[in-house]
Amino acid sequence: MTLRREINVLRILNFDSFAQSLKRDPEELQKELARIYLRAYEDLPQYAYTDLDSTIHYIKWLRGERGSKGWGRSGHIFLIALLEESIGENGNISKWEPVGFAAGDSLWRDSELGLVANFHEIAVDPRYQGMGIGKKLILELIKEFFKFNPRPRDVMLWVGLENTRAETLYRKLGFSVVSIKGIWKKMRLPYEKVKAILSE
Ligand SMILES: CC(C)(COP(=O)(O)OP(=O)(O)OC[C@H]1O[C@@H](n2cnc3c(N)ncnc32)[C@H](O)[C@@H]1OP(=O)(O)O)[C@@H](O)C(=O)NCCC(=O)NCCS
Repeated sequence: MTLRREINVLRILNFDSFAQSLKRDPEELQKELARIYLRAYEDLPQYAYTDLDSTIHYIKWLRGERGSKGWGRSGHIFLIALLEESIGENGNISKWEPVGFAAGDSLWRDSELGLVANFHEIAVDPRYQGMGIGKKLILELIKEFFKFNPRPRDVMLWVGLENTRAETLYRKLGFSVVSIKGIWKKMRLPYEKVKAILSE
């Protein structure tokens, strides 16, 4: 018999609404998300930061706190996936704990593709992977990109050459490889496919 893991209730909120509505200290929340990221990338260290301080710094950058005025970068979106009941780091069941996040810029200038929406990062706690959370986060992020700025444009991302888990997910959503640079593949979701996602 196969055991099927299912999620009962999943909420996706942006960082600030989550911190405000659940009265969470943003600094603590960033630390928690950094730990999720480090656990998610444990078996793929070549594509990730591997210490807590650099990861927190990166999360601040994703949120637009640092270096946010970089060329061609605007409309930072940072979404957090919350499960109604999740197992905290201490092993206790807690309510509405973050289990993953996704972040990107709704407007980004890429040297090859021009103006796009850029999907920077996604990480789901390994204890909750394979339950559809990653897919939901990506679909929600794409919707947010175009809510923020409806101008037609493709969505792009970079994925590690050997990160087949993430690449499989992106391919299923309609992304395909555009080019390869070092250990990274650039993938693109054409606007026609974005439109289909927006109309779902
Ligand atoms: C990539 C990642 C976010 C996926 O999150 P997730 O919640 O497990 O993804 P989902 O459950 O929504 O899976 C959706 C699809 O991903 C693929 N996938 C998920 N787990 C997989 C695995 N272990 N092996 C191969 N493909 C896998 C499948 O195609 C799956 O579709 P299916 O359910 O129809 O079979 C997660 O594995 C992760 O955090 N990885 C480490 C960080 C990372 O690599 N980020 C990407 C940066 S580019």
